Amino acid sequence: MRLVRTIAEVRAALAEPRRADEQIGLVPTMGAFHEGHLSLMRQARAQCDHVVVSLFVNPSQFNESSDLSAYPRDEACDAALAAEEGVDLLFAPTVEELYPAGFATTVSVAGLTDELEGVHRGRAHFAGVATIVTKLLNIVAPHVAYFGQKDAQQALVIKRFVHDLDIPTRIEICPTVREPDGLAMSSRNARLDAEQRGRATALYRALRSAEAAVAAGERDPAAVQARARAELDGASVEPEYLELVSAQTLAPVTAIDGEVLAVLAARVGNTRLIDNHLIAKNGRRHDAADDAQVEDPPGDRDRL
Ligand code: PAJ
Repeated sequence: MRLVRTIAEVRAALAEPRRADEQIGLVPTMGAFHEGHLSLMRQARAQCDHVVVSLFVNPSQFNESSDLSAYPRDEACDAALAAEEGVDLLFAPTVEELYPAGFATTVSVAGLTDELEGVHRGRAHFAGVATIVTKLLNIVAPHVAYFGQKDAQQALVIKRFVHDLDIPTRIEICPTVREPDGLAMSSRNARLDAEQRGRATALYRALRSAEAAVAAGERDPAAVQARARAELDGASVEPEYLELVSAQTLAPVTAIDGEVLAVLAARVGNTRLIDNHLIAKNGRRHDAADDAQVEDPPGDRDRL
């Protein structure tokens, strides 16, 4: 595995694979790798000839400077893990490389970013994500880029602008990887102390109890939310939001008559956690392979 820091080095390193018509896969990350990140790398390794991972803690998507400064960083460990997964190229640029003096452009997605995380973290968060992912896609020009269902709204936003801006990369969304007790893996989990780590398991229990309520025939979103809320209350976890939304538009559903996405965000101590779970029409649990399905924008599948 090669480690490079500049855009010019990435382009030079990919010139030969591109000439040889190799499939190039990109996994964008902010580092502090866990099994969730590694699962994306494995998927890229299984599907592509040349796997690129980017490691960049993107300042423009952090709405709290304390969150940015506390973000875990361990490049040496990350590089070793990526090498073990058979990654070919690790791109770990400086902030100045990606945001040089005079940088003045933002990619912003309307509609989808008005909901959920957009409300609580502010739309600037997704503008930061959309801008950096656009840059990474332009720098690497991959055939496929891999993202996690863990960040369901982010995945939808990325699919939206890739479609709207005619970026010729296929976006693949991979299932959420969880700890054995159900807690979705996240770089931020490391900040939980033992007591908070125990309480954090209530998030996935809440999503599963929403699913159980739908499976038992409940069709009123408020009643389903109340069931999920009870799990959080039992662990003294106060949600920022806990909603049943359309998996395509993220608009709250008024009745449960098809597939819905249960989404929630909560602070456990000072650590903000998010999770989501797709609840199928019949309320049955999706297995891991199905968990990843945020829909493509219309026409996307035909195009790529
Ligand atoms: P980061 O939080 O490092 O996540 C990198 C990728 O890993 C994202 O696509 C995320 O959805 C995925 N991921 C995180 N936890 C996961 C889990 N438990 N299971 C499966 N996938 C998981 O998301 C970002 O970075 C940034 O916003 C980025 C897209 C890199 C832009 O800066």
